[in-house]
Amino acid sequence: MQYKNPDIYSSYRENDLGRTFYDLVLEHKPKKIIEFGTLYGYSTVAMAMALDELGEGHVWANDLFEDYEFRHSTMEETQKNIDTYGVTKYITLQRNDFEEWLKNPEPFDLLHVDISNKGDTIERLYEAVKDQIAHGAIVIFEGGTEERDQVEWVTKYNCKKIYGSGIPYKVLNPNFTSLSQLIIPE
Ligand SMILES: C[S@@+](CC[C@H](N)C(=O)[O-])C[C@H]1O[C@@H](n2cnc3c(N)ncnc32)[C@H](O)[C@@H]1O
Repeated sequence: MQYKNPDIYSSYRENDLGRTFYDLVLEHKPKKIIEFGTLYGYSTVAMAMALDELGEGHVWANDLFEDYEFRHSTMEETQKNIDTYGVTKYITLQRNDFEEWLKNPEPFDLLHVDISNKGDTIERLYEAVKDQIAHGAIVIFEGGTEERDQVEWVTKYNCKKIYGSGIPYKVLNPNFTSLSQLIIPE
């Protein structure tokens, strides 16, 4: 199906970062997509729209849902959004903890991580998946710009910043909240 900015609450929505997700999936044609941090399903639906265009592939979309103490969705609410966009067959919602998954990461073609990312989240992610990246897997994450690290909660909870952390990545879309891709340094 053709892309349109999903009308689903998300901090990605204001600057239509869904377009970047859609284009990335069309470009790399990943068969197995894993996502951590689905919330109401904005990024998930944007990727699934591209899978529908390609006619194959699947998103395994993981979240803690009600087990997350800050802003969260319910699995039912997110499933309803997915169904509304007609991409049900491309997405499986699961209640899974990123921290558990990191201990033994399964193979994937594309991984999207958006769990209120902090510098240490991305550092641990990089260590856990760098071998897969070296073999061609794509890893993208929310954040990466200096502007994004200025969000109120990063200061409030004294979180480690992503920008300037030395983690090797490139910014795919600098528009707030920004989207970046992990890379292996030369
Ligand atoms: C910023 S939101 C995700 C936004 C979403 N990607 C979008 O397109 O709008 C962060 C989500 O991460 C989830 N989350 C936080 N910590 C997590 C963890 N350890 N494992 C899985 N999900 C987590 C929260 O429940 C929340 O729904």
